[in-house]
Amino acid sequence: MSSQNTPLPSRVTLFEVGPRDGLQNEQSELKVDDKIELINRLSATGLKRIEAGSFVSPKWVPQMANSADVFAGIKRAPTITYSALTPNMQGLDAAMAAGVSEIAIFGAASESFSQKNINCSIEQSIERFTPVVEHALANNIAVRGYVSCVVGCPYEGNIEAQAVASMAKHLAELGCYEISLGDTIGVGTPEQIKSMIEAVSNEVSTQQLAIHCHDTYGQALANIYAALQCGITIIDSSVAGLGGCPYAAGASGNVASEDVVYMLNGLGIECGVDLEALVETGNFISRIIGRPNQSKVGQALSK
Ligand code: HMG
Ligand code: MG
Repeated sequence: MSSQNTPLPSRVTLFEVGPRDGLQNEQSELKVDDKIELINRLSATGLKRIEAGSFVSPKWVPQMANSADVFAGIKRAPTITYSALTPNMQGLDAAMAAGVSEIAIFGAASESFSQKNINCSIEQSIERFTPVVEHALANNIAVRGYVSCVVGCPYEGNIEAQAVASMAKHLAELGCYEISLGDTIGVGTPEQIKSMIEAVSNEVSTQQLAIHCHDTYGQALANIYAALQCGITIIDSSVAGLGGCPYAAGASGNVASEDVVYMLNGLGIECGVDLEALVETGNFISRIIGRPNQSKVGQALSK
């Protein structure tokens, strides 16, 4: 890929991570019924991909312990994919028992973050993921891959783009059909994001890449715009800007889905999501968790 901007795409897909990445970081444990209502409301906004939960150790992330009940309770629209994180075979078995049709494995470009988040080195994580992907694919379950800390790590500081490219390549070779590049702590700025994507694109096709921005330093929309200029057409976002990461101190919420949709609408890029319905959903979940809606667009359109 050249460093020149490619024309902006005419259409992008939003990958909604609020029910997982958002709620995994809430201090209070949400009731199953509230999570189910959130996901059912999101399903009615036009979103086609929703990360609904996570089959991880409840000792590590207690907020996701009720994911099987969530999957059992949601109304699954046939045109929507509801996916879940699975760090190991135990998680995959639980996801399969819950009838999950898409899973995600999640690794990191930083050794320290890998240790803190999934208790193993990068190399060990690839060994651990290998049977998960094999078994999932053998059962017609699609597998997404995440690379965390693509520009910075809370423990190691700057991360080399080459480390990101190497991890993305490993995940794609394992069989992940898509790789989400996570600025887990939201420290990146647009030119850094572009250089990182350029390095990754040498190993994995841009069509297979998604961008996953947190808004800690208010750079998320600018970084997403930079990713669009690089040809990325899949954007992870979180309704009401819910989120953070329990193993990345200081990481604030994901970019708000409402803010992304507003920007895409302004750019004339189709995403098929009803902004008004999304804002109502963001206000609903903000009321439940008892704090202001973190989406600027959500706030502006609710006045
Ligand atoms: P471990 O302690 O090394 O695992 O943790 P273990 O295999 O030794 O098992 C320890 C205990 O956990 C055992 O229970 C297992 O049964 C249980 P005990 O015998 O002690 O009672 N266990 C499980 N229980 C339920 N489901 C499972 C499971 N696996 C083991 N799947 C492990 C290793 C990977 C399990 C742990 O570190 C873990 O669960 N980590 C998940 C952390 C996490 O979810 N982090 C947030 C998501 S990543 C993120 O947010 C970043 C992202 O958004 C992208 C970005 O922003 O950049 C994706
Ligand atoms: Mg995240």
